[in-house]
Amino acid sequence: MTGGLWFGGDYNPEQWDKEIWAEDDALMREARVNTATVGVFSWSAIEPAEGRYEFGWLDATLDRLHSRGVRVVLATPTASPPPWFTLAYPDAMPVTREGTRLWHGSRDTYCAAAPAYRSAALRIAEALARRYAGHPALAMWHIHNEYGTVCWCDHAASAFRDWLRRRYSRGENGLDALNEAWGTAFWSQRYSAWEQVLPPRATQWRPNPSQTLDYGRFWSDELLAAFRQQRDAIRRQTPQIPVTTNFMLSGHYQVLDSWAWSREVDVVAIDHYLGTAGADGAIDIAFGSDRARSWGGGRPWMLMEQAASLVSDSGLMLHREPGRMLRDSLGYVARGSDSVLFFQWRASRAGAESFHAAMVPHAGRDSRIFAEIAGLGQALERVGEIAGSTVRADVAVLWDADSWWALEDKGLPSADVRYLDAVRADHAALWRAGVVCDFIHPEGDLSGYRLIFASAAYLLSDEGAWSLRGYVEGGGHLVVSFLSGIVDSSHHVRLGGYPGALRDVLGIRVEEFHPLRSGTGIRLSTGERGTLWSEYLRSEGAQVLAAYADGPLAGCPAVTRNSLRDGTAWYVSTRLDEHAQDRIVGEALAAAGAGPVLPGLPPGVEVVRREGGGRSWLFALNHTGEPAVLPVTGLELLSGRPATGQLELPPGAVAVVREHHAGG
Ligand code: GAL
Repeated sequence: MTGGLWFGGDYNPEQWDKEIWAEDDALMREARVNTATVGVFSWSAIEPAEGRYEFGWLDATLDRLHSRGVRVVLATPTASPPPWFTLAYPDAMPVTREGTRLWHGSRDTYCAAAPAYRSAALRIAEALARRYAGHPALAMWHIHNEYGTVCWCDHAASAFRDWLRRRYSRGENGLDALNEAWGTAFWSQRYSAWEQVLPPRATQWRPNPSQTLDYGRFWSDELLAAFRQQRDAIRRQTPQIPVTTNFMLSGHYQVLDSWAWSREVDVVAIDHYLGTAGADGAIDIAFGSDRARSWGGGRPWMLMEQAASLVSDSGLMLHREPGRMLRDSLGYVARGSDSVLFFQWRASRAGAESFHAAMVPHAGRDSRIFAEIAGLGQALERVGEIAGSTVRADVAVLWDADSWWALEDKGLPSADVRYLDAVRADHAALWRAGVVCDFIHPEGDLSGYRLIFASAAYLLSDEGAWSLRGYVEGGGHLVVSFLSGIVDSSHHVRLGGYPGALRDVLGIRVEEFHPLRSGTGIRLSTGERGTLWSEYLRSEGAQVLAAYADGPLAGCPAVTRNSLRDGTAWYVSTRLDEHAQDRIVGEALAAAGAGPVLPGLPPGVEVVRREGGGRSWLFALNHTGEPAVLPVTGLELLSGRPATGQLELPPGAVAVVREHHAGG
């Protein structure tokens, strides 16, 4: 990405007439919009009948945007095939787990494994690439939108079998390897021919967890193959233009293996819609941003979509209070985003999302939202020099789609334990401690981190387990939560006591799980509490930091610490209350020699540093209702005022300081 921070959003001129286009031009200029994502859902406008293209309106849009100085992120419209496609190729429509074939009338309705879909998608991507290869407005390709539709049809089944053949083709007979990996001796599931193998479609009771896990892996790969097909065709026409696709970060919905996908895009782009209008929104932003940055290996990334105002909060659409859009947006930028883009530029007047927030609301220019958008555009220009700089972290949390998928298995002793909750809980504790962290795959390069959290790392491959052991032995600090290291990469339980993959690293042995009913808790010897989970745990060399004080587990260790060669590993066997969690995290940070960017700040004042080209910038975000004072020296870019040793930050305010270093 070049040219400062990218600011703008999805632009859908095909929904409007010429007068509105003229107004768009004026308002984009006023708001200092420099980027428009065009064409995301335009398939039926570009190819109204099979093989007949109408590029006129798109030519005019790109020309107009270019003449106004707005760069174009050009999308391929393949997330929403037109009705003619459905009727011509009904077999390319997705089939649910229950066997229902879906119809057009919404969006994202296609099967990525269906040959007809794949070739139609490739054709329109190639047509767009040929047409706009030399267009001066074209700054980036945006393939598809939020890959995520899962299908269980016969095309999917056949592609699944091909994928399985490749995965299990090692021994003499791949099918034996599959039977072994899927544990098909249980419930008479043994396969005697490949044709018998199906996706995990709706069945009488619990599906086979190893099969379900493999289907998750396969489908991520299948969608990735669809992405690659378009990307490679586009790259042949425009090798110099970066290509991306937008990952949807949405609650417990996880279809893509983000590590594998991030290796295939030129820049990681995420769509992030806050899950709460409340104070935790700041942590939510940090959580999305830290993942995006980590997936891209620390490079600047893109916020491709956020909402301009209303935020879906437990099913209600709540608005963000005045001023928060600037703070929230700079929250993403602080953690490495080089863009602030929205869905969408102008609120639609028809369709399923007419009441979705937009940069230009239904009320038009004369509105609080547009005024804030214009203010944001100005602010982003003022801090534009930070583009390209990066964020460093020496603490990391493990992130692994395999663990997420495996932990969704219905056969676990508690349905209340969710992967995302566990990871978020550790990330939130670090946020409260003022520590910026990365995410890392268990088999990734752990060596740069002083402290690593394994949060519900339920599935650990042999390589992952070795990697964590080597990390601790080499002097690393590791905090492991319950339900980590339980199964191997085939979803088979590691025997001999939990957590099989990490028992000796942690110096403990767990004989039994004691999940806790929701709404109940368990007292610890420290006076603190645990919820959700507890375990019958014995120390095998680890020091006991807290024991259970209640019920059948009274006297059993609850939190332990073990030394292994040069490193230290903590184990936390319950969901600690916030106080206890912050205490343990504080202890681990101190032992690891890691800490916040600026120590001693009041809770809720967030500080992150970006660095690059020998300079550094401090982002300070005051999420509290009280003014804060920060020890900073430099130039505050939003106001243009110098900060000489002290920076006053009013409630709700944000500052970006180009730091002056002693002697610099
Ligand atoms: C995104 C999607 C957009 C829009 C938005 C609404 O997931 O990419 O097209 O639907 O959600 O929040």
